[in-house]
Amino acid sequence: MTVYLNGKFMPLEEAYIPVLDRGFIFGDGVYEVIPVYSKHAFRLHEHLKRLQSSLDGIRLNNPHTEAEWTKLITGLVAGNPGDDQYLYLHITRGVAKRDHAFPQPPVKPTVFMMSSPLLPPAPELLARGASAVTAEDNRWLRCDIKAISLLPNVLLRQQAVEAGCAETILIRKGNDATGDFMTEGAASNIFVVKNGTLLAPPKDNLMLPGITYDVVLEIAAANKIPFQVRKIAKSEVLEADELLLTSSTKEVLPVTTVNGNPVSTGKPGVMFARMHSLYQNYKREVMRQP
Ligand code: PDD
Repeated sequence: MTVYLNGKFMPLEEAYIPVLDRGFIFGDGVYEVIPVYSKHAFRLHEHLKRLQSSLDGIRLNNPHTEAEWTKLITGLVAGNPGDDQYLYLHITRGVAKRDHAFPQPPVKPTVFMMSSPLLPPAPELLARGASAVTAEDNRWLRCDIKAISLLPNVLLRQQAVEAGCAETILIRKGNDATGDFMTEGAASNIFVVKNGTLLAPPKDNLMLPGITYDVVLEIAAANKIPFQVRKIAKSEVLEADELLLTSSTKEVLPVTTVNGNPVSTGKPGVMFARMHSLYQNYKREVMRQP
């Protein structure tokens, strides 16, 4: 596997960073995950735009222009096997004596990128659907930043794994006016389907603005699938006709059990079937463009 670290491509075994890197010490950095289909990075501009807002969110200058990122990413994809890959980009505030405040003067950020094989969800999983548990969303109030400090997400996802499930659906404690509401998954976005309408939580500071989420809503709009973007109550998750999970690595997955109970019939529904097929068509169409 060829990775990229601070200006050089090298084998993974040769990539090392100093222990005083602020990513290691404080989790002080941001990241991106970008799917690659047929050697083309999918929605690259959108991923790089989100990277820029994550960097703005932690007040770190972008070490590269979009043209430079594109060139580096093209080199990384070419240097790794497989037509379909997923890329991991990671930028930290660099190496400095341990002090919570930003280093003064600023030091060079650490830039790391790697590629892994991208395997689409197995046909059996698509046919059966994934299982999920719910848990209280106890993260901070800037979940829109794709921060490398993922400890809450790690602990929340582990709850799913220990219950024999694939994902944890996160529920924020609301106030008397809002009640408890759904934000996203530990590492995914979640949609609810009720009476033929696709419901999506609003892109605010409490969830990561998913690139796949945007694709799903664009597909819904283009195909006249009714959808609403609004706060989704916990009860609407538990009483959904269907639940869909989206992410760059999982694409669109049906969630068919929650907390051990079937979602409606307990089988992937018609909205999933339609969205999955439209998503695959959309991908093929985009990949045909030069
Ligand atoms: N995670 N919400 C969270 C908290 C996520 O970590 C992710 C993706 C998403 C979906 O975003 P997108 O559609 O842009 O992948 C939503 C990636 C895949 C990860 O951390 O590995």
